[in-house]
Amino acid sequence: LAQAQGKMSSKEHLELTQAPLQKIWVPQTSTLLQRRRGSSVPQFTNSPSIIVMVGLPARGKTYISKKLTRYLNWIGIPTKVFNIGQYRREAMKTYQSFEFFRPDNQEALKIRRQFALTALNDVKTYLSQEFGQVAVFDGTNTTRERRSVILHFAKENGYKVFFIESICEDPEVIETNIMQVKLTSPDYKDCNKEEAVEDFLKRIECYKINYEPLDNELDSNLSYIKIFNVDSRYLANQIQDHIQSRIVYYLMNIHITPRSIYLCRHGESELNLQGRIGGDLGLSPRGKMFASQLENYIKEQDIKDLKVWTSHKKRTIQTAERLGVPYEQWKALNEIDAGVCEEMTYEEIQKCYPREFALRDQDKYRYRYPKGESYEDLVQRLEPVIMELERQENVLVICHQAVMRCLMAYFLDESSDELPYLKCPLHIIFKLTPLAYGCKVESIYLNIEAVDTHREMSSNTDIPRELEETLDQVLVFS
Ligand code: ADP
Ligand code: F6P
Repeated sequence: LAQAQGKMSSKEHLELTQAPLQKIWVPQTSTLLQRRRGSSVPQFTNSPSIIVMVGLPARGKTYISKKLTRYLNWIGIPTKVFNIGQYRREAMKTYQSFEFFRPDNQEALKIRRQFALTALNDVKTYLSQEFGQVAVFDGTNTTRERRSVILHFAKENGYKVFFIESICEDPEVIETNIMQVKLTSPDYKDCNKEEAVEDFLKRIECYKINYEPLDNELDSNLSYIKIFNVDSRYLANQIQDHIQSRIVYYLMNIHITPRSIYLCRHGESELNLQGRIGGDLGLSPRGKMFASQLENYIKEQDIKDLKVWTSHKKRTIQTAERLGVPYEQWKALNEIDAGVCEEMTYEEIQKCYPREFALRDQDKYRYRYPKGESYEDLVQRLEPVIMELERQENVLVICHQAVMRCLMAYFLDESSDELPYLKCPLHIIFKLTPLAYGCKVESIYLNIEAVDTHREMSSNTDIPRELEETLDQVLVFS
């Protein structure tokens, strides 16, 4: 076809047609393995989506944009935030005052419109050329005129649009939001706290003049969720697809009450001592000492209404038992299933299954153990745990190395490449405290030694030639 359309010379065509088949399309062995064993992430063939934030300043739009983006990326949907304020700050190094946002400031209106268009252009690059699936358009988007520009742009490019509007008139919430995030904005680097608050409140008033919330009747054909007063009421309209329904569900589960999540692994187990992975043995003597120290630590902290969660494995249950408080067992928190490699040491795996061992190092996140799981599978399995963690306040999760890496990656926004190598040693507690736009991490060492179960990626991740051929044979003849 390419030759007929004149895109390929007859010489190129001849070379291509005469080449041995495997030279035309040689996928990576890890890709092949993934296809053979499958992927647990739903493959979305839908058109990409733009999530458009709507609302006055200090209504949590950036907070929601960042948090939602972190969640969507974690569950395997490539997502990126486009913050219009950041385009302005990058282009205009100095901010004078709220006057810039007055609805009768024609010059500024033109400039603001231009920033929105530049951001939309970047959205297009991301969704159409960089394999993005969801773009979060984080601005106020408070006028029908601005929203219709976005809708027109989306229609032209074949993108779906979903609006998230945050409506909040609680002065206490607004004041807290301004104190937490707006005073530290580069806009106010040269003024004092009182001046900054005053200017920001005037900025909100400027937006109020022309604010047109999404309308029950005029916008009845649009897909959106309205969030009222943080989490007191929601209104969802025309939910079109799987991603939108997941977003609605997620937004209905998050809250902003201050709390901490404590993550740790079980105490050292008998199998950890032998360097064996998986299995279901109990704690070693040092593992029991850790459980007692954990009890002391938790008592000392005197944490309000602390919930304790474990997996179904003996080593996490024995750790929780020492705390002397009620705990809940989650099968979803069980360690990664290493399939045929369960209870083997890494050395034994390398000896018995050299190809598997090398393949895991090539793409540890997607590699699935024969008859077992991959990290990618584990993330899907842990999604209900994350959702429940979002709903809860103070929780201590006693889990396992791979599970803890997945949970940490969610809270700390780590990529799927980094996730399988995050350092989660035995006998260390990570205390995660959500902040306005991120998460504070404190690590607490309880002074009980344990074996190191962390394995770095091998320096050479090439599949030995003889092993590659074996794999090809399997693929061709099976
Ligand atoms: P905006 O982007 O609307 O100007 P921000 O996202 O910068 O506002 O405000 C951040 C603050 O909003 C955080 O302190 C967070 O606790 C708070 N927040 C989060 N969700 C909401 C919500 N639905 N309504 C009001 N405030 C919220
Ligand atoms: O070694 C302890 C352990 O929890 C095993 O049960 C599990 O297979 C392993 O860690 C996960 O770590 P990695 O993915 O680095 O092999």
